[in-house]
Amino acid sequence: MSRRIVAAGNWKMNMTPAQARELMEKLIPLVKSDDKDVIFCVPAIDILPCLELAKGTNIKIGAQNMYYEDKGAYTGEISPVMLRAAGVEYVIIGHSERRGYFGETNEDINKKALKAFEHGITPIICCGESLEQRNQGITIDWIRQQIKTAFMGITDEQAKTAIIAYEPIWAIGTGQTATTEQAQEVCGAIRDCIAEIYDIPTAEAVRVLYGGSVNAKTAPDLFAQPDIDGGLVGGASLKEEFGDIVKA
Ligand code: PGA
Repeated sequence: MSRRIVAAGNWKMNMTPAQARELMEKLIPLVKSDDKDVIFCVPAIDILPCLELAKGTNIKIGAQNMYYEDKGAYTGEISPVMLRAAGVEYVIIGHSERRGYFGETNEDINKKALKAFEHGITPIICCGESLEQRNQGITIDWIRQQIKTAFMGITDEQAKTAIIAYEPIWAIGTGQTATTEQAQEVCGAIRDCIAEIYDIPTAEAVRVLYGGSVNAKTAPDLFAQPDIDGGLVGGASLKEEFGDIVKA
């Protein structure tokens, strides 16, 4: 089963619209690829200018979050209908920063994932353990719980197109990338969990990314692991280095 590698950048809360344009112009020639999916998940205010610049390139634009209602009195939120109408094809759901700082639960993430699929947006569903959980030896149990809840009510046809990002919290923004063995172990367990919920063909189709201090040095080994289909990249996606990660 050959799965297309995904190189997804998560810009987080960085880049004004003018800076976003500048960064896009710098990165477009560096991230050209025929065989990988290149996705930039940008702040909401940068979505339109980035979509404009991404036209005619291989770059897809994603959002970093969305709400699970189509419209209404939800001040400050952005809906899947708006994202889809703008031309957004991907959305990060349940990033550990959303879970940690904004109280998102596994149940919220499930509602958002269902909504994203309903509107034809591919969710990039994040999971990951804290250092404390890793030290307690409950990493796999924790991740399985996150995945099982996130996928409740999602059909096998939808699940096949999903992207899952395994991002150990202790590796995010710390410069401490998980070892390839640690990353492969959990990404393999995620695929097994999908096989349990659905079946083997679904597990073979879903793409599982690793995220957490991915850089041009660590990317090649990580992406070569049997159950790792690319990366969700934060800090390094704001630099020319992202071009080398795409080539990895
Ligand atoms: P990082 O962030 O690459 O800066 O560690 C990854 C992420 O949070 O998606």
